[in-house]
Amino acid sequence: MKFYNLVQQWFWYFIRNKNTIWTYKILKNCPTPPQKFIDMAQTGDRSLFGPEPESANYEPGKNPRLNRMLVKPGKAVTEPSVRNPRYELGPEFNNWLQKNMFSGFDETVVSISHKGDGRSFGPHTDRWRRYVLMYIVDSGGHNAKTTFWKEKYYPLIRDGGITINDYTNLVEIDSIVLKAGQWVILQSRILHSVEHIDNVRIAFQIGINDLSELERFF
Ligand SMILES: [Fe+2]
Repeated sequence: MKFYNLVQQWFWYFIRNKNTIWTYKILKNCPTPPQKFIDMAQTGDRSLFGPEPESANYEPGKNPRLNRMLVKPGKAVTEPSVRNPRYELGPEFNNWLQKNMFSGFDETVVSISHKGDGRSFGPHTDRWRRYVLMYIVDSGGHNAKTTFWKEKYYPLIRDGGITINDYTNLVEIDSIVLKAGQWVILQSRILHSVEHIDNVRIAFQIGINDLSELERFF
C-alpha cells in the first residue's frame, strides 16, 4: 500500500501542477462580509441564525454525518468525527452577497464546529453542490488542514453525499491550512476532510454549481 500511495500522490500532485484539475482556489480581492455576521457567528448562539438548511436534513435517525467514528491506519482506536452543524445565514446576508459578489448561489449557511472529542471532520463529498465558496471566520487552529483524498479504485470526482470513515484506502492528494479572513472555493465533489482541528472552526459556506461569475476573483 505504501508504494501505491506514493505513486498516487506523485501522480495527483503532477496533474494538479499542470492545472488539469484543481482542488481549491483562494480568491483575491473579495470584500469582507459585514462584521455583524462575523460577530453573530462568534457568539455561538444558533438562535441568531435560521434553521438547519434542507440539505442537512436526512431521514430521521439516518444522517450518516452524525456520530461518525473514524478509522485511521496505524491507530488502534477509532476517533469520533468533529460535529459540524450548519445554520442558514438568512436573507440579509444573501442580499449583501448578491450586491457585493455574485448572485448564482443556492444555499448560504454558517457552519460552527465546536471542539469535541475528535480532531478530524471526516472525509466526505458535499451533498448537493459541486463547489462550495467559503469565508473562514475562525480556522479551527493553526494546524487545521483541509485535506483532499482519492479513494483507491474510484474516480477523483465523486457523487454527492458520500462519507468515508475508514482512511485505509484513501490517498492524500492535496491539502491547505486555511486562515481566518480567506475566501476559498473547494471542489466539493472530491473527497475532503479537515484534519488537526484544535479549536472552534467557523465558516460561511455558499453552495455554487457554476463558477463563471466568480472568475474575476481568481
Ligand atoms: Fe464539505
